Amino acid sequence: MSEPDADALVFFGATGDLAYKKIFPALQAMARRDHLHVPVIGVAKSGWGLDQFRARARESVETHGGFDPAAFDRLAGRLRYVDGDYADPGTFAALRRELGDARRPAHYLAIPPTLFGPVVEQLGRSDCARGARVIVEKPFGRDLASARALNQTLLGAFDEASIFRIDHYLGKEPVQNLVYFRFANSFLEPVWNRNHVASVQITMAEDFGVQGRGAFYEEAGAIRDVVQNHLLQVLANLAMEPPVSTDSEAVRDEKVKVLRAIPSLRPADVVRGQFRGYRGEKGVAPDSQVETFAAVKLRVNNWRWQGVPFYIRAGKCLPVTATEVLVRFHRPPALYTAEAPPPNHIRFRISPDVAIALGAMVKAPGERVAGRAAELLAVRHPDAAEMDAYERLLGDAMRGNSTEFAREDYVEEAWRIVEPVLGIETSVAEYDPRTWGPDTIADLVAGDGPWHDPVTTGHDR
Ligand code: BG6
Repeated sequence: MSEPDADALVFFGATGDLAYKKIFPALQAMARRDHLHVPVIGVAKSGWGLDQFRARARESVETHGGFDPAAFDRLAGRLRYVDGDYADPGTFAALRRELGDARRPAHYLAIPPTLFGPVVEQLGRSDCARGARVIVEKPFGRDLASARALNQTLLGAFDEASIFRIDHYLGKEPVQNLVYFRFANSFLEPVWNRNHVASVQITMAEDFGVQGRGAFYEEAGAIRDVVQNHLLQVLANLAMEPPVSTDSEAVRDEKVKVLRAIPSLRPADVVRGQFRGYRGEKGVAPDSQVETFAAVKLRVNNWRWQGVPFYIRAGKCLPVTATEVLVRFHRPPALYTAEAPPPNHIRFRISPDVAIALGAMVKAPGERVAGRAAELLAVRHPDAAEMDAYERLLGDAMRGNSTEFAREDYVEEAWRIVEPVLGIETSVAEYDPRTWGPDTIADLVAGDGPWHDPVTTGHDR
């Protein structure tokens, strides 16, 4: 389905952190590729003028990704700035004037969700929402009820087809490759099911803590921060049925179907951990029960996957920074070999470097019939010219391609799955920084283990 391109990009929160770290660098990259042909209007309340706004943009690209004089010039020429309070109708009247003839603006709400209501309402009243799209960031609510309320707010001025919910994991090349790799190769499909797959593990490890975001983390915790969104998206890409076409709704329908097949988590399916030292972080309660680590066991109760456990594990202050998927197959019978060989696997490394590996046994040289484990490995080093997730997703939203954005029914299913374990229903166990979380995670994986711990490869940073 071909949608008309947006004819202006407006971003609220233009002087904030997200704009500084992600949006300006993405816009400069779009300008470098000659993909940016519309006015870019920043809105914030800082008392700034356009010159200060341009200076902020320049500082942002210098700090994040590098200043490209020619591309930056093109971006700077497109920048506009509206200063004002989000509660003041005058701010939106000024925005409407800046929009000029634009009839299909895309409004990017890079602001805290508590401000969505007032901004969306004012956009509607000031005639800035007509024909427009809205782009919002995760978190989409903090539980099922608040996600629904947030959506009602957005629906006050935009229809679902015009709402683009960014989960930046979906903009990552290796996350998109999971789907491509599955459906563009015929060798995988015959074994990609409960008859051959014994278990699936998805690990997102970070070797750093909360990096000054203690107050944010207190409100979130690992389950809300990355499991409910990024990692369930990875799971959906691994488990979904082939879509009937590449149409955005055909793809998103299949993802929702996967989540519908997953029973809600029970406390026994979860291990929550907190790294020693977290309670001393700024903005963190001295008796905080918030998890900086979570390991969960999920079931996908459909024809393809019934009985195959899917494990997700994510945490801060772990030994490495890496996101990896390990799909383990059933063991072969021990007839030809002396001992039962270990199971084969497929390993998808998603970040920081990219790899696809097939784990297999090969004969060890020598007279004895004995083997050793090997990986048939395809590695790709990130290419400097590759699109960053934000550049890709912003471009998609501007073009009206919603395939890689979370649909509301998907978001609600994801909350339904994690909701029973969001609170204090399960206790939080301490773990030492630079370890793989609380010891009890071994019990969670039990007979499906061991956990597969990603290693650093030396190409990582
Ligand atoms: C964000 C989380 O959504 O994703 C962070 O809020 C996390 O806690 C980050 O560190 C990881 O993203 P990436 O792309 O840096 O791996």
